This record gives sequence, structure tokens and C-alpha cells, in this order.
Amino acid sequence: MSALKLCVLSSEILPYAKTGGLADVAGALVQNLRLLGHDVYAFMPLYSAVRAAHPELQPVLGVQRVPLSIGDVQYRFSLQSASFPGTDIAMYFIDCPAVYDRPAYYTNDPDEHRRFLLFTRATLESCRRLALAPHIFHCNDWHTAMLPLYLKTLYASDPLLSRARSVLTIHNIGYQGVMPAAAAADLGLDHPESWLDADDWALGLINPLKTGIVFADAVTTVSPTYAREIREGPLGMGMQAALRARKEPVIGILNGVDYKDWDPRHDPHLKAHFAPQDLRGKRANKESLIAATRLDTPAARPLIGMVTRLAEQKGIDLLFDTLPAMLQERDFGLLVLGSGEPRYVDFFAGLAQRFAGRVAFRSGYDETLAHLIEAGSDIFLMPSRYEPCGLNQMYSLRYGTIPIVRNTGGLADSVQHFDPSTSTGTGCVFNDYDAPAVRWAIGTTLDWYAVPESWQRLMQNAMAQDFSWTRQIVKYDSLYRALV
Ligand code: ADP
Ligand code: GLC
Repeated sequence: MSALKLCVLSSEILPYAKTGGLADVAGALVQNLRLLGHDVYAFMPLYSAVRAAHPELQPVLGVQRVPLSIGDVQYRFSLQSASFPGTDIAMYFIDCPAVYDRPAYYTNDPDEHRRFLLFTRATLESCRRLALAPHIFHCNDWHTAMLPLYLKTLYASDPLLSRARSVLTIHNIGYQGVMPAAAAADLGLDHPESWLDADDWALGLINPLKTGIVFADAVTTVSPTYAREIREGPLGMGMQAALRARKEPVIGILNGVDYKDWDPRHDPHLKAHFAPQDLRGKRANKESLIAATRLDTPAARPLIGMVTRLAEQKGIDLLFDTLPAMLQERDFGLLVLGSGEPRYVDFFAGLAQRFAGRVAFRSGYDETLAHLIEAGSDIFLMPSRYEPCGLNQMYSLRYGTIPIVRNTGGLADSVQHFDPSTSTGTGCVFNDYDAPAVRWAIGTTLDWYAVPESWQRLMQNAMAQDFSWTRQIVKYDSLYRALV
């Protein structure tokens, strides 16, 4: 079948910039689309940290110091490029120090909305200057969700771009990029109110994610269960009506796992490699993890790991009373790596102090430690309030680290509750978002751990799961082909 020209926009793309799963998924998406033979062009902002870490980027001739007004501010942007590592994929960076030279990728600065409007507009303007006419613009999350409307307005009669179709993937509906209606002039549209949601407008708000949901030619999200949850109930966070009003319903496509990066057989971050047939290396990773984090816990004691953004979404509130109580009643160690909101940082720091030797907490972002926790823990805890897909539970399965997850979103689609009587299932799944439920789940999993034969079966079931991208990418391929 003929190759399509695909333009993928994301505010973070691995290996260049990552704060969470969006980066893993955007990086895997572009590589796997290329493997299908498509011509892939990936765009992201050139944050100052990315510039510093990637001296190999080259300026693109003909797209330098291009003037672009966002409201009454005139910016100039340039395009830089590189080949995506190990591939011939064209990776493009929108260079505009006025908005991207900041200490973090995301900010609370008053021009945050302009940083991503500029990214979106500059990508479209770059395509024009490169004479690139993509079949598909694939947008991700609120940052680039205005693009579908731009195609239908500012670029509706552009000879190169007018026929392009748009796909919007919702990775997390909890972030909508809402801005005050006073910023309407920044959108660059005549009569912006005529395109925007009337109820939001009456409230003095502009909602980029909702605008994308209304105007994209296709809307997808990252698991089938989440697709249902956001259409039907409170997890839609105000987007339910817009999602239901679409002629074509939101499509749920479960994320894949990049097993190049996440497989204990060859993961370069590990102390020792292991495979389902020989798990000795797993014990070696556990021992070195315990030593490295100054835990004082025998290797035979079950170790629960967590790697997470410390945000309300992740269900940490459920653990405030549960973990101290369970640490008193049951015998297990706990190792947490996370960064985010101070109240959660304080909670885990306090827990590590109170249960010194049995609980360790690393605040911050640490790629190597994240891999070591997947490899060296026995159990992985992910009690999310909501989870569009979630990657760590799928990584855990591959490392024989048994996930405890709540029955929501992609967690529900990737983990089956273990039944010791039939030896089927891959983890522990609990339903209710409350402390007794998570307490039950941790207790049950520790009980399973205490029966070695059944635990071995559970580990084998987990490691036999296959969530590779090769299965999932064809769903995007079919979607693109149906659109063009
Ligand atoms: P989300 O995108 O909502 O944070 P996911 O499970 O989809 O959740 O993806 C999270 C990704 O970010 C995983 O690859 C995980 O290993 C990584 N990650 C999260 N927090 C940290 C951290 N503190 N240090 C290193 N990696 C982290
Ligand atoms: C978001 C979601 C997470 C998902 C990731 C990648 O950050 O919170 O569940 O796995 O995007 O799609």
C-alpha cells in the first residue's frame, strides 16, 4: 500500500524530552509508523534543555527567523532538524527562545497558552515553507489541539494544506489548556467566538482540547475503557457532551510498549538480565536496588515499587492512611520514585522517615532508577483514580513485577485479576476508589506472594503478555487510511 505523509506533533517526544508517558508514546508512534513505510515528520518545541543536550541539530534553510504574530506579540521562529536516532525520520524542532527558553517544559507563566499556539502555528507555517503537504496531522493532547480548527479556517484554502486531515489523540483529558476569553486575539482567527464553544465563551473561557474534539477529523484516546469512561461519565471532565456530539465516536487504541527499551533480557540499565526461563537476574537486581536505596530489608521480603508523577490522578490520596497501617501489620518493603505535588512528596518523605529501612523515597526524575524498580521489585503499585492508559503496569508485567491496579482506563485493559484456583490472571485489580479497596488489594497480593508456587505461576503469566507496538500501530494505520 502507498506510503502516507504523516506529520506528528507532540509537546514531548522521547528521547528528546519526557515528563511522562506522552513522550514514550510519541517516540514509539513515529518509529513504528516509519516501520510501516510511511514518511514521518515529527515536530516538537525546541526547549532550552533540548538545545543544550543536542548540539547535532541543524538549521533548516528557508525556515529561519520567520515572523509569526500571536495576538499583539510578534515572535520569530526558526526550524531546526535532526534524524530521529537510528532512523531516517525527519525530526523538526520549533526554535523560539522567547517562549521555550524556560527552566521547565511546562510552566505556569501567563503566556503558557501562547507557547503552544506558537508551536502549532509554526508547525503549519513550516510545512508551507518546506512545501510539505501531509495527508495527516496527528495532534496529541491540548497543546496542539487547535490545529484541526486552523486547518478548517486559516489554512482552508491553502493549496498545500487544505486537504490534510487531522487526528487528535487524547492522552489525558485532565489537562485541557483552558485560557481566558481575553486571550481570543491570540488565536489569530476572525470572529473567534463563532468557532468556539458558546457555553465556555459565556463563562469567559476558551478550551483548546474541546475545540480539538469538535474539529478533528478523528479523535482517539489511549485505551478502549478510557474511551468509554470519558464519553459516559465524570471522567470526561466536562468533555462528555462534546465527545458524544461527534458523528464518529472517540476511538480507544491501547498504547503499546517499546520492548527495545523495556525488556529485562537486554535492558542496559539493569545490574543483571533475566528472562522467564531463568529469573536469577531478577533477584540480583533486587539486591542491588535494596543496597543502592539504603533499604534494610532481606531479599526474601516482598518489595513493592512505585514510579509515578505525584499528581492527584495517580491515587496517592488512597495511601495516606493505608500504607502506615499496613506497614505496621504486614511484612514488606516499599520503594517510591516520583516527582510532583509537595503534599505527596511530604507524605512519602515522612513515611520513609517513620519506617526507615523498610521504606525509601527518591524525589525527582531518574530514568535508570525507574528501570531498576521495574526489575528489582516484586510488586508494582498503581492505584490511579483514573488512567487513560498507563505504561508502568505493562512494563511491570514484562519484568515479572506483579501490578496492583485499579479497575480503570488502560489499567483495566491490560491487567487481569489473578485467580489462584485456576492460575489465570496477571495481577491484582481492585474496583472502588477508596482506602479499604486498596488495602484489600495489597493484602491479597502479599498473601499470593507467600505461596511460592502460585507466585511463580503469576509471574510467568505476567511475563508472557505481549503489548508490543506492532499490534497497535496497524490500528492507527487503518484509521489514517480511512480518513484520506
Ligand atoms: P503518565 O504519563 O500519566 O505519567 P504513564 O504510566 O503513561 O503515566 O507513563 C509514565 C512514564 O514516565 C513511564 O515511562 C515512567 O517510567 C516514567 N516516569 C514517571 N515518573 C518518573 C520518575 N520520577 N522518574 C523516571 N521516570 C518516571
Ligand atoms: C498520559 C496518561 C497515561 C498514558 C500516557 C501516554 O500521560 O496519564 O495514562 O499512558 O498519557 O498515552
